[in-house]
Amino acid sequence: MERNRWYKDMVFYQIWPRSFKDGNGDGMGDLWGVLEKLDYIKSLGCDGIWFSPIYPSPGADCGYDIANYMDIAPEFGGMEAFRQVLEGVHTRGMKLIMDLVVNHTSDEHEWFEKSRQRVDPYTDYYIWRPAKPNGKLPNNWDSNFEGKAWTWDEVRGEYYLHLFAVKQPDLNMDNPLVREEVKKILRFWLDMGVDGFREDVITYISKKEGLPDDHLFPIYKGMPNYNHGPHIHEYLAEFKRDVLDHYDCFTLAEAPLVWPKRALKYIDEEKGQLDMMIQFQCQCADCLFTDYLPTKFSLRRMKKAFSNWQYKLAGKAWNMLYLENHDHPRILPRYGSERFWKESGKTLAVSYLFQQGTPFLYQGQEIGMLNWKPEDPDMYEDVQTRYNYAHSNLKKSPEVRLQKMWRSSRDSARTPVQWDRTEHAGFTTGEPWFYVNPNYKEINVADEEQDPDSILHFYRKAIALRKSLPVVRHGTYQEHFPLSRKQYVYSRTMKDQKLLVICSFSEKSTKLRIPRGFDMKNATCVLANYPSQTDSLRPYECRVYLWEK
Ligand code: NOJ
Repeated sequence: MERNRWYKDMVFYQIWPRSFKDGNGDGMGDLWGVLEKLDYIKSLGCDGIWFSPIYPSPGADCGYDIANYMDIAPEFGGMEAFRQVLEGVHTRGMKLIMDLVVNHTSDEHEWFEKSRQRVDPYTDYYIWRPAKPNGKLPNNWDSNFEGKAWTWDEVRGEYYLHLFAVKQPDLNMDNPLVREEVKKILRFWLDMGVDGFREDVITYISKKEGLPDDHLFPIYKGMPNYNHGPHIHEYLAEFKRDVLDHYDCFTLAEAPLVWPKRALKYIDEEKGQLDMMIQFQCQCADCLFTDYLPTKFSLRRMKKAFSNWQYKLAGKAWNMLYLENHDHPRILPRYGSERFWKESGKTLAVSYLFQQGTPFLYQGQEIGMLNWKPEDPDMYEDVQTRYNYAHSNLKKSPEVRLQKMWRSSRDSARTPVQWDRTEHAGFTTGEPWFYVNPNYKEINVADEEQDPDSILHFYRKAIALRKSLPVVRHGTYQEHFPLSRKQYVYSRTMKDQKLLVICSFSEKSTKLRIPRGFDMKNATCVLANYPSQTDSLRPYECRVYLWEK
């Protein structure tokens, strides 16, 4: 099918459903709530929605443990509500993508129930191994969430592999029947009119033959033996050939530990099997590889990550741009400054919205939501956080251990969206399923709607500007002053249009530096977060200059 790659002109909004908006008063976000807010999402200039999982699930990993791929969970409104949302999205000229989680299922999925009882054809749907004669586990791999990657199943009398939580057994993608199941799932949603998929840890689905021990990797032992495994490209090509190529859809692959060179094997526009990739380097300017190993924020690391992807994908593949999602604490207190909350929230927006690629916003990012800081570790819901809290920094005081979680936990960014100043931030009329950040009276959508200078309105302006300028889609990217520890400056250039983006990441005033060759006399400042422009940059000041022929 001839593709016009419509996703290149879009801006996506990620909905993490349980905390977005409750429409029926049971305290849990749902699709009725989404229906109420479609116009709001559209008003941001977003024309696509990515739903984190909304399928039936026991909720061991907030929906990333799926018990039925072809249904919508009743607590979210079931299929009936979903059809209405899909129609509402399409009548507004928007698109909708689903989360496809096929590295693993829930242990409560029917396939697993049957597999553990060795009922055909499900016997080999998962990765089962007997205990070793010496009583050891089948190999030395770690799960990404909870200790070792193997759990003993009494029913079957074997170990099963789970690269995530104990309740998330890995599927055996080497089994052609499992791949057929994946294709059925893809077709089911595409036939209903869904526009594409975000594919959860898709680079993990092919494990090295023989599942050998790993003696290389210090953390997440085993990763080199299943990330980008031997048959990954073959399986993805099969999904593309048999299903995706027959629809006008797009795919976004989540890929831990991937750099542009490797990414191109997946997303090269001519030879790849997928369209875009969620990379993690942009999240690692203040940590080493994971949020659980935090370091001081380094602007240079952030810039390097951004520019590396911009340069290396140019002309070959398309970038997915993001600052936040449901797997990381909020970006503003990490890369910006709570002291300069409004200024830095806007600068962060500008720092990524004018790069080449398709931007994604995570719910609440557009109002500058901050991290939630519970006073008791028992308040955490997330399986990864609870495990990490129980097993790390054990020699430190309880206060220090808790503070470390504030910086590392995904729950920091999973509190309900703050809609207004009323009880529970207007998220629900019932009892919220999770804690509301107590700062909701200062940070909420309703107040920001009233304030023309808010972060919310700034996002709207920036997105509208981005969409009005062909140079953002087509122009060449160049970073200037890469060694600067205070400023991020980049330009986008094409024949008749040129943009210069200047962002200060300093709490102090800094000198304005203009790269050579930019004639400021003929420039128009088309976006800024201070009312007037001088020849120094104030804290977290940002500006976008435009030249047109
Ligand atoms: C990545 C998802 O984004 C995350 O939320 C989930 O816990 C893991 N994959 C496992 O599915």
